[in-house]
Amino acid sequence: MTRHLTTTADLTDDEIEAIFDEANGYLDGQTNQKLRGKLVINIFFENSTRTRSSFEVASKRLGAEALSLDVASSSESKGETMYDTAANLDAMGASAIVIRHKNAGAPKILSKYVKASVINGGDGAHAHPTQALLDLFTLRQAIGDVRGKKILIVGDIRNSRVANSNIKLLTRFGMKVVLAAPPHFLPKRSSIKMVWNIRDELDGASAVMSLRTQTERHERLIYASLSDYAANFKITKEALGDRNIFVMHPGPVHRNVDLEDGALSDPRSLVLRQVHNGVAVRMAILSKFVLGY
Ligand code: NCD
Repeated sequence: MTRHLTTTADLTDDEIEAIFDEANGYLDGQTNQKLRGKLVINIFFENSTRTRSSFEVASKRLGAEALSLDVASSSESKGETMYDTAANLDAMGASAIVIRHKNAGAPKILSKYVKASVINGGDGAHAHPTQALLDLFTLRQAIGDVRGKKILIVGDIRNSRVANSNIKLLTRFGMKVVLAAPPHFLPKRSSIKMVWNIRDELDGASAVMSLRTQTERHERLIYASLSDYAANFKITKEALGDRNIFVMHPGPVHRNVDLEDGALSDPRSLVLRQVHNGVAVRMAILSKFVLGY
């Protein structure tokens, strides 16, 4: 088995099924002592609200000690390199290090230097494997068998690690993925179907996944304004109509830019279910990587 989780390709289909089976048992929110005496360190070099707290809650529910390092106030700001910081945390006896970094590939590099299992909590625009896994888990819970079902991914796809990981994982599990965005938000090359509007592709889709405009990754302003973007790509109740379609978003949501308030609170919205399921899926992932099965 693999010791680190840098992309979803590190896991076989069987391993993913086993993670989902285990996660199902954690949905009730009960605490256990599976990882008692183990130390899980979150080291986030980039801002995060839900991923960091999700890993922290997941570690604590498994009885592990959880430490979240606020990198802004750590030695990194005094010029220590990521490797030195992580090597020190490793020397404290961490079983797993969850890392988020603005540079693609940082978790992979780190994994070569530490004894702990490295879990990618998001690296640049490259990958966010635990988000894709919790999204697939949530889709299955909502629609059952996902094979052959269509999902429309909308937003700043080119700069989104969530999109990247989901495109790979959802197609691998047999979903038909369609990307909808203005041209400069779409990948330069892709074998996936791409469209420049949302309306034509909502028909027949089982889910629509909206993504945040990654303004922090743009070198210059590439859309005239967020409201211009929203006029064309915001998911509204009116656009959804009476379709049987689920609405997803990894958060944080730009309200009324990505999703209209009404679409976010609609019964078809899975956004809070994604957050709830995220803790259970991360519990299963932490167990697997910390205990090595
Ligand atoms: C995303 C991220 O940081 O990659 N959020 C998340 O992890 N839930 C998406 C984003 O920042 O837009």
